[in-house]
Amino acid sequence: MLEFGCGMGRLFPTFVDGATEIVGVDISDELLLKGKQYFEKNSVDNTDIQFVNGNMCSFANNKKYDLIVFALSVLKHLANDTERMQALKTAKEHLSEDGLIVIDHTALLYADGPVDWTPASQSLVASWVAEPEILQGYQWRKTLDGATDILEWRYQDTQQKTLFEVKFTTYRYDIEALTQHLEELGLYHELMLTEWGVNGLSDKGKRFIGIAGFPGNGRSPRERLLEKVKRRGEKLWSNHEIATEEMLQVS
Ligand SMILES: C[S@@+](CC[C@H](N)C(=O)[O-])C[C@H]1O[C@@H](n2cnc3c(N)ncnc32)[C@H](O)[C@@H]1O
Repeated sequence: MLEFGCGMGRLFPTFVDGATEIVGVDISDELLLKGKQYFEKNSVDNTDIQFVNGNMCSFANNKKYDLIVFALSVLKHLANDTERMQALKTAKEHLSEDGLIVIDHTALLYADGPVDWTPASQSLVASWVAEPEILQGYQWRKTLDGATDILEWRYQDTQQKTLFEVKFTTYRYDIEALTQHLEELGLYHELMLTEWGVNGLSDKGKRFIGIAGFPGNGRSPRERLLEKVKRRGEKLWSNHEIATEEMLQVS
């Protein structure tokens, strides 16, 4: 498998059971180094893991992969449609004939509109982490500047003194544009789910969790995936606005 924007290879342990080769491509030397160090200490049998410094818009190694992954909305890091098309085309060029491209994507970070400073413990991220108490003191807010989506995080002590601040900028990439780009590249695509909650699938999704591939590829893992999701009872909402108190309290 090949992952674009793999960061430190957070998802690789998920793939080691089935993959003989995992190639992670990222532009951050710092994250790649962390990933390499992790897998040096925690070596994996039967899977060759490689971290490669490269840009998802231009990467080329002349190999084909059965699974290509764009996870955690990495496509939002690309500033315009030209770069997005290049990244999807790069994926197509490395896809085996019956392989699948898996894309996990939302148009905007955390919320559709601006949100003022919000305690992290009261937002949807609280349901993503195993120990929500680590979020104590952390807050986030977001602003939108045209298609630029700006997210800030800060940590405040009990006297409200800010001890840590960080700012991320990503770019709005609508799901309609993403699916249109896949079509322009001659790829079929299938939406597997948008959102899910502990009580099953929700229709409030603002997320594209789907697959793409060459037309005629009938290897859709849709049913298996939905079964797994229901069994695990996971909570995932892509939008702070739709993560109501009631939803967050369900455990
Ligand atoms: C939100 S993180 C996701 C990391 C990983 N996919 C995960 O799920 O943990 C986005 C990653 O994309 C990388 N990235 C951003 N632009 C990139 C590009 N043009 N080519 C390759 N990687 C890129 C960043 O360095 C960062 O590691």
